[in-house]
Amino acid sequence: MVGSVVVRAMRPDDLDAIVEVQAQCYPPDMNEPALLLAARLHACPDTAWVAVDPGTDVPGAYLVGYRTLLGKVSPLGGAFAHHPQADALYLHDLAIGRALRGRGVAQALVAHARAQALAWHLAGLALVSVNDTVAFWRGQGFEPADVTPQGQAALDTYPGRAVYMRA
Ligand SMILES: CC(C)(COP(=O)(O)OP(=O)(O)OC[C@H]1O[C@@H](n2cnc3c(N)ncnc32)[C@H](O)[C@@H]1OP(=O)(O)O)[C@@H](O)C(=O)NCCC(=O)NCCS
Repeated sequence: MVGSVVVRAMRPDDLDAIVEVQAQCYPPDMNEPALLLAARLHACPDTAWVAVDPGTDVPGAYLVGYRTLLGKVSPLGGAFAHHPQADALYLHDLAIGRALRGRGVAQALVAHARAQALAWHLAGLALVSVNDTVAFWRGQGFEPADVTPQGQAALDTYPGRAVYMRA
């Protein structure tokens, strides 16, 4: 719990609120469609979390990802699937709605994911930083990492600057 906010697993009935948080956080060309968000939750429900006000239970922030291989970069709009030999937790999207910004909610969601990665004995975490968030992610212990040409092609699917980072 951070302040009055609780982290719990995402559920299918959260998706309307997730779409709304996404719209508050990204320009239209970076909004991923609701059907894709639903398919990802169906494929990887154990790596999808939300932060809710316990009074309403409505998500005001979320973090979604999947278990993968270090060095493998996820493109914008890509499907989620856990890799059977995963050595990393990939954080595809962390988004904090306007009402919850600046209250430590992002930090709490990342800490929750990190604890899960440790429990699964994964070697690390990885992500693509967009929206000018490299400094934020450095603060969470991530550093930019080299990518293969295939990884660079995945980075090129994001509008604006996209940086692969690992912790
Ligand atoms: C970036 C974002 C996730 C931060 O969420 P938040 O809940 O406001 O962050 P927190 O309150 O948990 O802040 C944790 C720390 O990061 C710092 N921080 C927050 N946003 C930052 C930013 N944009 N750049 C640098 N540092 C930042 C805070 O000052 C705080 O530092 P402290 O621990 O030294 O006090 C949020 O603004 C957001 O959802 N943005 C839009 C979506 C997005 O860009 N997601 C990331 C895509 S890769």
